[in-house]
Amino acid sequence: MAMPVVDTEYLKHIDKARRDLRALISSKNCAPIMLRLAWHDAGTYDVNTKTGGPNGSIRNEEEYSHGSNNGLKIAIDFCEEIKSKHPKITYADLYQLAGVVAVEVTGGPTINFVPGRKDSKISPKEGRLPNATKGVPHLKDIFYRMGLSDKDIVALSGGHTLGRAHPERSGFDGPWTREPLKFDNSYFVELLKGELDGLLKLPTDVALLDDPEFRRYVELYAKDEDAFFRDYAVSHKKLSELGFTPS
Ligand code: HEM
Repeated sequence: MAMPVVDTEYLKHIDKARRDLRALISSKNCAPIMLRLAWHDAGTYDVNTKTGGPNGSIRNEEEYSHGSNNGLKIAIDFCEEIKSKHPKITYADLYQLAGVVAVEVTGGPTINFVPGRKDSKISPKEGRLPNATKGVPHLKDIFYRMGLSDKDIVALSGGHTLGRAHPERSGFDGPWTREPLKFDNSYFVELLKGELDGLLKLPTDVALLDDPEFRRYVELYAKDEDAFFRDYAVSHKKLSELGFTPS
């Protein structure tokens, strides 16, 4: 795939916005919700109709009002502070950059970021993001629709190493790990320990233990953090570029 072309002035704004995002995310401790914003903008992609994806459409009230996006207006408003300083940057690029920076500043792998995404005003219908109460077939259906693989599903689920669930947003409660502001492989370590440790496990997290194809990656990532970081960086980049083709 050829690289999309953005001019050097745009690249300068991206560089500055990256710095501004680092400062904002560290001062507000908002890495988890910024990562969730990037994922929810991108995760609506449908590889068959080439609709949805990382196109900034989650900024539309119609879309951030979807039940699965509860709470994300907070992250949209944080990003607006950066957007007002760098109006040339598209929302689509800004949200994905925020996701990449969130992983980076919490100690996760460096994710290659290619700018040039276009904004869309068209929001997909509700129901494209995964439902946390479901199991293996649902997870596969949803991520295959995005064009992602079993390995991507497990690696990306490792995003739950950051943050927590909020009863008033999702009905679930609590963090997945003991250090929810540190990006490491503890999500997988805790998942393998089972239900006894008092940390959150969504049905879709537990589903990663039920399928043999999923489980082998859970076991690998729990014992080999470098393998997790390598695969996570690749899968996150894929997620951040769904449907993104050179202009
Ligand atoms: C939070 C579901 C995949 C990143 C949550 C919450 C739910 C959820 C229910 C709690 C929301 C709240 O109450 O605030 C799911 C399901 C997934 C999935 C069903 C399917 C596999 C992902 C992926 C990423 C991700 C792929 C990123 C790579 C996060 C983060 C939070 C979160 C960082 C914490 C947000 C915060 O602390 O405010 N997710 N998620 N999730 N999710 Fe996921």
